[in-house]
Amino acid sequence: MAKRPTIVRTVPALRRALSPFRRKAERIALVPTMGALHRGHLALVRQAQRRAGRVVVSIFINPTQFAPHEDFGSYPRRFETDIKALTPAKVDLVWAPSAAVMYPDGFATRLAPQGAAMAGLEDKFRPHFFGGVATVVAKLFTQVAPDFALFGEKDYQQLRVVTQMARDLDLPLKVIGVPTVREPDGLALSSRNLYLSAGERSAAPLLYRVLKASAARIKNGDKIEAVLDIGRREIDLAGFALDYLEARHALTLAPIAARKDGPIRLLVAAKIGKTRLIDNLGV
Ligand code: PAF
Repeated sequence: MAKRPTIVRTVPALRRALSPFRRKAERIALVPTMGALHRGHLALVRQAQRRAGRVVVSIFINPTQFAPHEDFGSYPRRFETDIKALTPAKVDLVWAPSAAVMYPDGFATRLAPQGAAMAGLEDKFRPHFFGGVATVVAKLFTQVAPDFALFGEKDYQQLRVVTQMARDLDLPLKVIGVPTVREPDGLALSSRNLYLSAGERSAAPLLYRVLKASAARIKNGDKIEAVLDIGRREIDLAGFALDYLEARHALTLAPIAARKDGPIRLLVAAKIGKTRLIDNLGV
């Protein structure tokens, strides 16, 4: 039977647990998560194992990336189930600090990422989000000091923001994006899919269908703005409350008007019922 991963909850315990790996000069990969693990997270773990001899998964629901009206309180907490999922995956270490360990009394620092973090996408609807993400991810990077850190492309703007943050702060690790894992009907796996009612769940894959059709039309030479207008209309008609459907430069996330200015990434965010879904696709 596979061995349960070691669970550490304080920074000194984390350092002690990592030191034998470091003494043997083993490479370490970090998979940062907020728990409620699904096959997408397990794909990150598998990619991590291809890069490094040791894999650390962090499970920390980061309060500073949620606004007061958002779902911090109801975000799924399934620690034991998560550990059961990580056991056969042969993860070496689970880093599971409490909020008091991550943000002790008197904690007073917050990163203010710019660039991709101010692209007018997620930041427009969740202005507090990337400051909270960049701060906690910078802490996770300094706590674990991994050689690699793996993030899902599903949170594409987040991936660009943490990649830039690691570069800007000269953190000696490589940030790796891993392609989105999808349900057979195309819905991107997300811990928040747990919130969907049966009816919402069957409507949800429309977002991916719109992304795919829009990418095909752009590749076919159709004008980007016209393609996006069609996509936006389809999403509205299907009963979603659309936040954005945009075509952006895949690296900078700057607006893009023509295919020649690419590579292009299409990004979408929309609410169905009370659940906000995001997705994206390269053209
Ligand atoms: O993508 C997530 O699960 C979170 O935003 C992250 C990167 C673990 C930071 O809290």
